[in-house]
Amino acid sequence: MSSESVRIESLKQHVGQDVTIEGWLYNRRSGGKLEFLQVRDGSGVVQCVASKAELPEEVFTRCGAATQECAVRVRGAVREDRRAPSGVELTLKDLEIVSESRDYPITPKEHGTPFLLDHRHLWIRSQRQHAILRIRHTLVDACRRFLNDEGFINADAPIFTPNACEGTTTLFETEYFDEKAYLTQSGQLYNEATAAAFGRSYCFGPTFRAEKSKTRRHLIEFWMVEPEIAYATLDDVMVWIERFVEAIVARVIEERRPELAILGRDIAALERVRVPFPRISYDEATRRLKEKGLPFEWGTDFGGTDETVLTEGFDRPFFVHRFPAAIKAFYMKRDPADDRLSLSCDLLAPEGYGEIVGGGEREDDYDTLVERIREHQLPMEAFEWYLDLRRYGSVPHSGFGMGIERALTWICGVEHLREAIPFPRLLNRLRP
Ligand code: 4AD
Ligand code: MG
Repeated sequence: MSSESVRIESLKQHVGQDVTIEGWLYNRRSGGKLEFLQVRDGSGVVQCVASKAELPEEVFTRCGAATQECAVRVRGAVREDRRAPSGVELTLKDLEIVSESRDYPITPKEHGTPFLLDHRHLWIRSQRQHAILRIRHTLVDACRRFLNDEGFINADAPIFTPNACEGTTTLFETEYFDEKAYLTQSGQLYNEATAAAFGRSYCFGPTFRAEKSKTRRHLIEFWMVEPEIAYATLDDVMVWIERFVEAIVARVIEERRPELAILGRDIAALERVRVPFPRISYDEATRRLKEKGLPFEWGTDFGGTDETVLTEGFDRPFFVHRFPAAIKAFYMKRDPADDRLSLSCDLLAPEGYGEIVGGGEREDDYDTLVERIREHQLPMEAFEWYLDLRRYGSVPHSGFGMGIERALTWICGVEHLREAIPFPRLLNRLRP
């Protein structure tokens, strides 16, 4: 942005002045002697009104010929306008076409999702997508701020890893010179090391799952924020999770009301996201699903429909805790009260969304952990460093991971995770 131009989001401070805006033409409507140009610059959209009577003929003609998404530099006088979403309008005085845009593929008419995904690099300019990604920005910032304010140290985990964290079925294998490496599924194992170093730590980065499932809840590459807390039990971590989710939702409501309005999000539903969140056991969840006539069996994991049905009857996120150990990862600590169960928890978002957080207490006993690694048929040598954490000052510790796109999809009230990340990686989609 050049020094003399003004961003649309700060136009309100320039009422009565002449300003220059550098952006793109979002849309245009002709009204005979007037042209209404919707100009966007990434920070907002402002209507610029060009009047045939008041402009040199060549400027008015240029306005009437400007095409969707051509790059423009406009100069005009800022006028207050209470009806306008930005609160202001521009009386256009000059328009320069910085560069052309011919036959822009995404027109105001309806397009199918495959077409829009093929044009994701352009689709993100559209108002809805733009709003979602701005909320994503605030959500990410809110996660970091909450944790930083609580004394967590951000210590990111590597992306190339020698071992599996979340089971071997969804591992992406790659070459690492003359060794095999895997793309990380979760930074958790490294977080356990950093939590022992810093007490409270978190990693925040992309994670990868070779999920063969094609659902609205699964991405191949997604972002996860994963806090880990030394000396925390399952009960403690559930309190951390609910406080965290309450805080980040509150920040989004506070800072992104206009974007939530563009999406038509029911803000009252988000305002109900207040601690404490209800807690039900896996056993209780099983009972509820059976009562509702679902063919769910104790000992299996919830499918998408099970989660959706479970969310009925809750007006805010809720925990399901103590899943069967057999369906959880090797590092989960067993419930001392019932060895079939693990000290695990998921947080499910209401309104049918389902799991947004997974977490729990980690096995902290050396011998037990060795046994679990064997049971899960994982290569012991790859976990030697991890076992060190149980050799040298092992303590109870717990943590969780929240998928950013899962949380964002729910907060925005959108249907599918593919809209919650700038460039989604899906089962059949590696491009653009
Ligand atoms: O439940 P998950 O698999 O848990 C872990 O990875 C733990 N190691 C985290 C931890 O305790 N540090 O994944 C955590 C979250 C899920 O609740 C979900 O929000 C998200 O990651 N997630 C996905 N998001 C998008 N696409 C996928 N394929 C996802 N798989 C998990
Ligand atoms: Mg999970």
